[in-house]
Amino acid sequence: MIKPNCANSILPHDSDDDLDIDRQKEEKLIIEHRTTTKLQHVGLQVWRGALLLADYILSNPDLFKDKTVLELGAGVGLTSIVASFLAKEVICTDIDVEGILKLIRRNFLRNSAYVKSKFYVNELDFLNSTWPTFYKERLNEATIILAADVIYDESITEGFVRTLKTLLSSEIPKTIYIALEKRYVFTAANMDTTAPMYEEFLKHIETEEQNWRIEYIKIDFPKYFKYDRLKQMILMKIQNKLNE
Ligand SMILES: C[S@@+](CC[C@H](N)C(=O)[O-])C[C@H]1O[C@@H](n2cnc3c(N)ncnc32)[C@H](O)[C@@H]1O
Repeated sequence: MIKPNCANSILPHDSDDDLDIDRQKEEKLIIEHRTTTKLQHVGLQVWRGALLLADYILSNPDLFKDKTVLELGAGVGLTSIVASFLAKEVICTDIDVEGILKLIRRNFLRNSAYVKSKFYVNELDFLNSTWPTFYKERLNEATIILAADVIYDESITEGFVRTLKTLLSSEIPKTIYIALEKRYVFTAANMDTTAPMYEEFLKHIETEEQNWRIEYIKIDFPKYFKYDRLKQMILMKIQNKLNE
């Protein structure tokens, strides 16, 4: 049984219950995270993709307001926490390693003054898509799906795309926002610099071009967080064709 968590918001909202963001006033989120980890525990760090997606959410509040939002590979939960300022419900997921799900819950509670939505923190492993029926039904309610910086390993990327296929095969229109950083490496085989994981990801999603609408979003929206918005960062929007 998944239990909802709730917190009341003290962020200013206008008469339509929209978030009234005063960009001159500095607000602080307190996020527990690590600065270095082993590769298996990279979710304990905050990656730039999480901040890029969080900026996109704050720059486009109407897209997220009162929606059911699912985040995949959420890491320390920063993007989900920002989505929870606006959404009706946030389902924040990752694999349950090194106490990451508990850490996400602590981060939600630390920032409860800003959290407006119901939120659930649960395991969703891209490599295990045998979800119990009640979980499948809950995930199916999400119309907005977020994923930041989950393209960095071949088998995780394959599992991620399989998960997207399952979620997008729903009868419900869904929009997925994927933030990633093209990570370039020099390979002696190609005698060139390539971004192999990004290219692998593109190969996988190209096979779905008939069923999905894939767009790239310009990353020139306002910056609310302090980080380097590198030119190799990508923000992609994928929708099932039910959105048409
Ligand atoms: C580079 S981190 C990004 C974390 C966070 N989204 C961010 O941008 O700060 C990659 C995330 O993918 C998660 N991940 C790794 N393997 C996974 C799997 N099999 N299923 C779901 N998530 C996975 C990691 O735990 C981690 O949180």
